[in-house]
Amino acid sequence: MKGLILSGGKGTRLRPITYTRAKQLVPVANKPVLFRVVDTLVEAGITELAIVVGDTADEIKEAVGDGSRWQAQISYIHQEAPLGLAHAVKISRDFLQDDKFVMFLGDNVIEGGIVPLVQQFTSRDWNAQVVLTRVENPEQFGVAVLEEGRIVRLVEKPRQPPSNLALVGIYMFDPHIFEAVEAIQPSWRGELEITDAIQYLVENGYTVYPYVHEGWWIDTGKMEDMLDANRLVVEEMEPRNEGYVDSDSRLHGRVVIEEGAEIINSVIRGPAIIGEYSRIVNSYVGPFTSIYHHCEIVDSEVEHCIILEHCQILQIDHRIEDSLIGRHVEICRSPLKPRALKFMLGDYSKVGVLSNSR
Ligand code: G1P
Repeated sequence: MKGLILSGGKGTRLRPITYTRAKQLVPVANKPVLFRVVDTLVEAGITELAIVVGDTADEIKEAVGDGSRWQAQISYIHQEAPLGLAHAVKISRDFLQDDKFVMFLGDNVIEGGIVPLVQQFTSRDWNAQVVLTRVENPEQFGVAVLEEGRIVRLVEKPRQPPSNLALVGIYMFDPHIFEAVEAIQPSWRGELEITDAIQYLVENGYTVYPYVHEGWWIDTGKMEDMLDANRLVVEEMEPRNEGYVDSDSRLHGRVVIEEGAEIINSVIRGPAIIGEYSRIVNSYVGPFTSIYHHCEIVDSEVEHCIILEHCQILQIDHRIEDSLIGRHVEICRSPLKPRALKFMLGDYSKVGVLSNSR
């Protein structure tokens, strides 16, 4: 069994972060989402992997490498434009050959991994198996209809969803999928939809089975989703301290202090993770916060945030909450006069300032 990870796409819903970083490399609990996907596949025994890359190819290749970190082989397949998930399958034929494979979207985080479903698929002669989960907003996804334990119909982003079972972005196929991706036409959004390719399988007598996932699953396309994924993953961490915590500091609950991090006269209320060589001084770090490496938080309070590497947050009077802060960001006090807010913000930045009336 091989693994195909899709990591193209522009990540427009995560701007401005994605102007300078591939969305799949934004960390959740201090590990890039894409690394979590590779972990999940390797854990299921799949070590022959290819990543389909687009505009952000160089950055992804540099971060992930050849797979030796996972004792896996990772190669790269270039998709010249985001022409759809079925198009990605089409251009990966040389790599996939006649093997069964798992296709996994590189920005998904799923609770509990895929070991049982890979075991199920490899031990049957089904043509496809599709992971589904119940959602409240099925119109935003591909949606499946089941009958007698099989998938009988699939629709991509239906206006009137025929069920609440969404395709989560994890699929297993045998080589018949190539016949399907050759047969379909682009959708209204100009993409070759994998949903249509699976519908082709159903219509042509191939067997397509569902796997209904009951745990959490997050497609980390938007900031709120990143924060949700972070919240869920930090809750599962085992506490550990590989850094330095001085005697005036307090750690409560699940707290991970990574190597070289320093906590001075501060309170860290878990679940939270403080990355390598970050310094937290006279500060409060509240639950569901991930601070990546080489950050400095001084005389400030942060909670329910993802803060990327090399940030500085210095002497801020108000607590910073519900925020995703990119790399090398500095948030500090302006000198007293003139009393003004001073910004240097990239395109599509979002800032919430406190109003005087409250
Ligand atoms: C894609 C698939 C859709 C699936 C979704 C899961 O949508 O086309 O069927 O439900 O991923 O995240 P897209 O992210 O391309 O809108």
